[in-house]
Formats: sequence, C-alpha cells, structure tokens
Amino acid sequence: MYSLKNKIILISGGAGLIGKEISKTLVHHGCTVIVLDIKKKELHNLSKRNEKLFYLQCNINNIRQLGKAKTFIIKKFKKIDVLINLAAINESPKNIKNIKKNKFENYSLNDWNKSIQTNLTSVFMLCKTFGSIMAKQKKGSIINFSSIYGMVSPDQSIYLDKKKMPFYFKNPAYPTAKGGVISFTKFLASYWGDKNIRVNCISPGGIEDNQKKIFIKNYSQRTILKRMGRPNDLNGIIKLLCSDDSQYITGTNLIVDGGWTTI
Ligand SMILES: NC(=O)c1ccc[n+]([C@@H]2O[C@H](COP(=O)([O-])OP(=O)(O)OC[C@H]3O[C@@H](n4cnc5c(N)ncnc54)[C@H](O)[C@@H]3O)[C@@H](O)[C@H]2O)c1
Repeated sequence: MYSLKNKIILISGGAGLIGKEISKTLVHHGCTVIVLDIKKKELHNLSKRNEKLFYLQCNINNIRQLGKAKTFIIKKFKKIDVLINLAAINESPKNIKNIKKNKFENYSLNDWNKSIQTNLTSVFMLCKTFGSIMAKQKKGSIINFSSIYGMVSPDQSIYLDKKKMPFYFKNPAYPTAKGGVISFTKFLASYWGDKNIRVNCISPGGIEDNQKKIFIKNYSQRTILKRMGRPNDLNGIIKLLCSDDSQYITGTNLIVDGGWTTI
C-alpha cells in the first residue's frame, strides 16, 4: 500500500502509549525510527538490538538537548523525512486525585505554565529545530498531535462515578494547549508550503489504557462507535501522512475519535 521504505522518522514522546505502537508499526514497514523521549531507553519495547530503532533520551523542553539531537541526526542520517510530535504531559484518569487542584479557581500558574510548555511550546521548538532540516531538503512531513479536547471542551461528566461523585477533573491548560497545536499546525503549513513541507495534525479521542471501569463505560457511551480508541487505531492515518500518498494533504486536522466530536 503506502511506500514507507527507508524513511527517516523522528518521534518525540515515542516511548509513550501511542508512540510505542506507532514506532513498532513504522519499523515493521521498513522505516528507520528515532525516538526522542525523556524516559529511559529500556522503557521502549523495541529498543533492544533493533537496528531500525534509535533511542535518544532527551527532554524536549531543553533547547541544548534538542540541539545535540539535531547534530546527531544530521551526522548519522543526513535527512529527516517525517517528524511526529507526540510528547505531552496529561494526567490520566487512572489513579489521580486532582479534583480540587484542577478546578479553574485553584489551578496554579505553575501547573498552567508546565502544561503549556510541554504540550504547546515544545511543539514550536521541535518544528523549529527539525523542520529547518526539512526546509533545506525542500521536502518533509510534520505530524502534530492534538486531541478532541483541542476542538471541544472536556465533558467533565465522564469523570463521575456511579454515585455521581467526581473522581477526576480535566485541567484548563491541556485543552488550551491542544487548541494551540491545531492553530500552530495551520500557521506552519501555510508558512512552509513553498518549502514542500506538509504540516498536519491528528486529534485522537481517548485511548483505552486500564482506566477505571466506570470511566471506560462513561467514555464509550459518549462515542458513536461505543468504545474507546486503541493505540493501533492511529496506524492507518500515520502511515498515510508519513508516505507520499498524502502529498496533497496539508494544514488539516484529522480526527480519529470514534465520533466523539460528531454528536
Ligand atoms: N492517550 C490518549 O487518550 C490521547 C487522547 C488524545 C490525544 N492524545 C495525545 O497523543 C499524544 C500521545 O499520547 P500518549 O497517550 O501516548 O501519551 P503518553 O503519556 O503515554 O506518552 C507521552 C510521552 O511523552 C514523553 N514526554 C513527556 N514529557 C517529555 C519531555 N519533556 N521530553 C521528552 N519526552 C517527554 C513521556 O515520557 C511519554 O513517553 C499526546 O500528545 C496526547 O496529548 C492522547
């Protein structure tokens, strides 16, 4: 189907839930994948002796560390075909007691700044650092990750237990940052069109990951397809955007949410 062989693909946050699945898929299709993640290398299931997977431990908020990664990549691979920006911080509704601190009136400037930094500003920095290689090549594809919450406000009712008591509260900064990622994607697509760099965004819905049963139930009922997403639900769209079969697609926000934002 899509031709992905020998593509050099950089994935920020590649050791996370979605990143592990995507890197496995792209390596399977003959790509060389370079994962940038703050976590230790051992936490990636492909990192053991896979010659198509490179792991750089890197804090994407640290400009010096990004510069070192850029130097390494140019020296070793000479090019980057695709940049996938997955890295983010987001409290999961698994075991977090965040209700009081995440209410708008209580939400601290410190927490706000941390979220905006990692979830939005780092996307700007990653695109600047690695997109400039693509601009010189006059070719590239950048795939940013937003969320349904970049388009619609969080539905806080899915975080209520059977007795209608909240067990989690989505903070105000995450949706704000994710909305910014969509707008930034459009800006950059327009700015770098003449450099033949395509910039697109993917907005997934919630992915199932051992959350509380009540949460999975509440969430699933709220979608058209009556289930949460799975990491491999994103493989198709990723393969398309990484390949030249999407050569006329740029500036879009592709929604993969089982219909959450439709109803
Ligand atoms: N999982 C979902 O339900 C869901 C839904 C909608 C959107 N998304 C978006 O998809 C993307 C991937 O989500 P995920 O579920 O795989 O998240 P995840 O938390 O499993 O993975 C994120 C990765 O980013 C890394 N990271 C965080 N801060 C970093 C830093 N400063 N430097 C380098 N790496 C850093 C983490 O170590 C982690 O491996 C995110 O942008 C997220 O907002 C996820």
